[in-house]
Amino acid sequence: MEIDHAELLKTLFGQHQKLKDYLQHVAQDIGRPEGELDCTEKDLVQFHKDLVAHLALEDKVFYPEVFRILKRSGMDSRPTEIFFAEMQKIAAVVEEFLAKYKTKEDILKNKKDFSDEFGSIAKKLALRVAAEEEGVYMYLA
Ligand SMILES: [Fe+2]
Repeated sequence: MEIDHAELLKTLFGQHQKLKDYLQHVAQDIGRPEGELDCTEKDLVQFHKDLVAHLALEDKVFYPEVFRILKRSGMDSRPTEIFFAEMQKIAAVVEEFLAKYKTKEDILKNKKDFSDEFGSIAKKLALRVAAEEEGVYMYLA
């Protein structure tokens, strides 16, 4: 079956936006002077679910489609393969972080560590999102 590129991109951009909104929400949360996190366990679990769904769509549908297009047009797919491997490394680091902070209690118990690690995770994820939107997503545009 043919993949509807416009529809797929619309879904992927929408998922990115949702993930970015969450990261921004937590970043604001962390910056609160009173230091209480207002991000709930439900938000955290939902973010994880959204991220897993997004990565699955990219890994199983989007990237295979990009490689198919590159192959069909006789283009060198190596840079994209290297890029894809880099993106998977970022996903693994984020997964590790989410496994460590599963509940609000996990966060509140190690608030300083969480804040420090969150900053680096958010940066990595933002980098992946921007790199995809400005790079590989264009193959399907
Ligand atoms: Fe993505």
